[in-house]
Amino acid sequence: MKSITEINLAQKRVLIRADLNVPLNEALEITDDNRITQFLPTLRYVLEQGGRPIVMSHLGEGGGKPDKTTSLRPIAERMKKLLNADVVLAPDCIGSQVEDMSRHLEPGRVLLLENLRHHSGEKDNDPEFCKALARLGDVFIGDAFATAHRKHASMVGVPKLFKEKAAGLLMQKERDYYEKSLLKPKKPLCVVLGGAKVSSKLGALQHLVTLADKIIIGGAMANTFLGAQGLQLGRSLVERELFPKALELLGAMARRDCKLYLPVDLVVGTSPNSKGIARAVPAAEVPADMMALDIGPASSILFREALHTAETIVWNGPMGAFENEDFSKGTFDMIETLASAHGMTVVGGGDTDAAIHKMELAHKFDFISTGGGAFLALLEGKGLPGFDALE
Ligand code: 3PG
Repeated sequence: MKSITEINLAQKRVLIRADLNVPLNEALEITDDNRITQFLPTLRYVLEQGGRPIVMSHLGEGGGKPDKTTSLRPIAERMKKLLNADVVLAPDCIGSQVEDMSRHLEPGRVLLLENLRHHSGEKDNDPEFCKALARLGDVFIGDAFATAHRKHASMVGVPKLFKEKAAGLLMQKERDYYEKSLLKPKKPLCVVLGGAKVSSKLGALQHLVTLADKIIIGGAMANTFLGAQGLQLGRSLVERELFPKALELLGAMARRDCKLYLPVDLVVGTSPNSKGIARAVPAAEVPADMMALDIGPASSILFREALHTAETIVWNGPMGAFENEDFSKGTFDMIETLASAHGMTVVGGGDTDAAIHKMELAHKFDFISTGGGAFLALLEGKGLPGFDALE
């Protein structure tokens, strides 16, 4: 994968695919601008090199037609503030007016295209839509790691139309840490998985069994493993239909000498929103009318000890329903453990990332990926179309 630093950008219209898909509240205010700040080094680099950046991104699911609630206007404004440069929002992402704007973009300014998903051609990877986007740039830079698992027009169809293309600084960093953590990890490699469902991480587990020396499972997904081993878990979220798969995975781990760590105690409540009744119980003693909503203190100690010798730690998914303070301790304990770990720490997934930022400990991690689905695809051992398109 060629790097942006290997391309001459001076005077050129640099068409950049970024992932500026940030969360907005009901008033359409940005609630977390991490993806914008992570993209700024690439943007600054283009400006410093005398290139004329034309930035494209999606926001939200997109319905294939213009929609004010998913306009990139709040993003243009935040970029302007953070970058301290003029950011012009185009009225659309394709068309003659936008082409004109791309040709007359003054040095030092950024042109931000309107939401790509306002056109169905984006998700359909429509050839005509690809050509219309490609007319906006002289060179192509792929920097949208978080969308790299999507075969959408701006991710795969557009770069195909460029002779000169390269990875942006964020894409490169994501690729480097993927290599360091999963392709060529310093061993022992320890993977921590959490979140609600085994079903959404089954592919990752099947692949990680072949790579990791230890797998630690927390969050509600641990319930399915505990249940498969015969524990009664009251009203906890349990995917019974996956018991056979869970037992199969336990067998595969034993055969490959990949050690599995499950919670030995759980914090229970009546619902993820319940207040003031949380208490820790042994994993085998979840009351019939309660549900497990966090790992308990003994599990936090066990997991910390298991991580002690790891040279590489990869984490995805919270240990409990951490949005409710009563069930946040397990996730925050894990953050503290990793923040002081001696091994290299790589984290991915929106929820995990949000918890780390809440504790203001992001600087203690080696790398926090901007990817959710894309990060998971790497854990599953799948290639990323967004990487391939830049090769
Ligand atoms: C994400 O938030 O994971 C990326 O921006 C991709 O968005 P998508 O899941 O809507 O394709």
